[in-house]
Amino acid sequence: MVEIIKKIKEMQKRAESFRRMGKRIGLVPTMGFLHEGHLSLIRNIRNDCDVLVVSIFVNPTQFGPGEDFKEYPRDFERDKKLINENGGDIIFAPDTEEIYGKNYLTFVKVRELSEIMCGRSRPTHFEGVTTIVAKLFNIVKPHIAIFGQKDAQQAVIIKKMVNDLNFDVEIKISPIVREKSGIAMSSRNTYLNNNEKEQALALYKSLLIAREEISKGERKSEGIKEKMKNCFEKYPDVKLEYIEIRDFDTLKDLNHLKGNVLIAVAAKIGCARLIDNIIVNV
Ligand code: PAJ
Repeated sequence: MVEIIKKIKEMQKRAESFRRMGKRIGLVPTMGFLHEGHLSLIRNIRNDCDVLVVSIFVNPTQFGPGEDFKEYPRDFERDKKLINENGGDIIFAPDTEEIYGKNYLTFVKVRELSEIMCGRSRPTHFEGVTTIVAKLFNIVKPHIAIFGQKDAQQAVIIKKMVNDLNFDVEIKISPIVREKSGIAMSSRNTYLNNNEKEQALALYKSLLIAREEISKGERKSEGIKEKMKNCFEKYPDVKLEYIEIRDFDTLKDLNHLKGNVLIAVAAKIGCARLIDNIIVNV
């Protein structure tokens, strides 16, 4: 049965003793309300480690003012059952007070990369992400941690932080898990009604159009973005925030597609803000 740890000191002690026994620790950081996307991360890291820790913490510092921190869905008992069934050994589930306490002052920020794409509309978001992930690395002491390609910018930023701050942690990226319709699984899909779910297909459809244009030989970002934008016109309830075409390793803006290319979209439907992407090797 999966074990639950709520205190930092206890988690650190356990991590230290696993390390002394020569056991390899794997970490899957999450904000809970798990779906198949999260569970695929658990399954994809299981063979890379001896002890698998899944963290559940709805991290207040990565939500901006007016964002959905309060409404963010939570269901610990369901998460516990799913983690147990999928092979997790430990759930690290601290409360906010345990993580940030009183008078918390220290933040980790990856400059530039945190300010583009999603960073434009969520200026403090990635600082919150890198801060909690750095803290989790110091608490769980993983040898390897896994993140989803679903949040591609987050994954690139975390890799950069690990490199710049010399964290001794291997970072693994896991493919996007989609619903049957094609929309990327997300805890925030629970905010969508049936009509909005149909509208949400706009993001994936636009990415399929991009893929098709590339397979036809298009290499200019502008041409691809134009075709993607047209696709959104068929979905009047979708407020497009951005279409970006960037290098997947550096997040450098690309005019011409070359190498590992990230094509990413963000849009608002009702009160939900959704993101999706594909990575194409050109
Ligand atoms: P959360 O949104 O709960 O996602 C946890 C992990 O699951 C992330 O690495 C995310 O990319 C991955 N994930 C989500 N949906 C996915 C899907 N459809 N397919 C594959 N992977 C998917 O991302 C966060 O939490 C937080 O920012 C966190 C890293 C935990 C820091 O608080």
